[in-house]
Amino acid sequence: MQQVGGEVNPLHQPVMPAEVLEGLAIQSSGRYVDATFGRGGHSRAVLRRLSSEGRLLALDRDPQAATAAQALAATEPRLIFRRGRFACLKQAIEAAGWQQVDGILLDVGVSSPQLDQAERGFSFMREGPLDMRMDPESGESAADWLNRAEESVIADVLWRYGEERRSRHIARAIVAARQQEPLTTTTQLAAVIAACFKRREPGHHPATRSFQAIRIYMNAELDELETALHQAVDVLAPGGRLAVISFHSLEDRLVKQTLRTYSKPPPGGRRLPPGPQPDLPLRLVGKAQKASADELAVNPRARSAVLRVAERV
Ligand SMILES: C[S@@+](CC[C@H](N)C(=O)[O-])C[C@H]1O[C@@H](n2cnc3c(N)ncnc32)[C@H](O)[C@@H]1O
Repeated sequence: MQQVGGEVNPLHQPVMPAEVLEGLAIQSSGRYVDATFGRGGHSRAVLRRLSSEGRLLALDRDPQAATAAQALAATEPRLIFRRGRFACLKQAIEAAGWQQVDGILLDVGVSSPQLDQAERGFSFMREGPLDMRMDPESGESAADWLNRAEESVIADVLWRYGEERRSRHIARAIVAARQQEPLTTTTQLAAVIAACFKRREPGHHPATRSFQAIRIYMNAELDELETALHQAVDVLAPGGRLAVISFHSLEDRLVKQTLRTYSKPPPGGRRLPPGPQPDLPLRLVGKAQKASADELAVNPRARSAVLRVAERV
């Protein structure tokens, strides 16, 4: 259990909470969306800045996050929670009876409880069923997919979402292993992958990239993020802020490129002085930020986080 900002959170430490609040430039009576409630670290920080007029709509597709959010909403009338995917951001905002919002936070990826609970199947370090779904009530488990997918498709997923150079070798090993017996557990898959590497990179488990790739694919994480970013631009009120925290280079590249498309003229287009561009809906706020050394000392999982902020003009 760690202590951050005077508050104990046994389950998930919110990443860069002060930077997120500053990025969102909270107006006390505004309407905000936390599209990734998790265990509500960021939501609680936003609620502390809101007056009795302010409102927060929180979303999450994970059933345990939903339970935590519903418990908070039971005693917090300014919080509205909807369980679902953030690719349906616009729909959730409309269902709340709103047309526009003053700020949106996307803190993407998996939460610490998802990683730490063996039974969710996200971690190669913990023996558990090979599931990896953020919403275990919808779609296919990683085991079901790995036991039926074509070798070339598995290799493509490992390459595209894990940038795994041994993708073809690993895909071949997975298909050979499942012919002996179906893959059912995290440690079984991790062992198959580890056997594809003669030498180990120090401090790096050989299954890291493959587990990341399979998780991203099973949860359609990049498609979800891209859809939510486009919808966010549509629903932000003028002056409204979008804050996005990503955890690996594929996510950050997508965020950077999408925010750039909405804030900078295309290369070869009209040359304008720096500042808000006519006809472009976003203005970038500051540069990409990383967690401070102080935060990393208490929350090493913030190591790869990158925060980007933009404002609706
Ligand atoms: C990094 S955690 C967020 C932690 C949260 N900010 C906190 O302070 O507790 C990411 C959360 O987003 C949720 N999530 C990820 N992708 C999602 C999606 N496409 N739709 C809805 N929720 C999603 C996950 O289930 C997880 O609970």
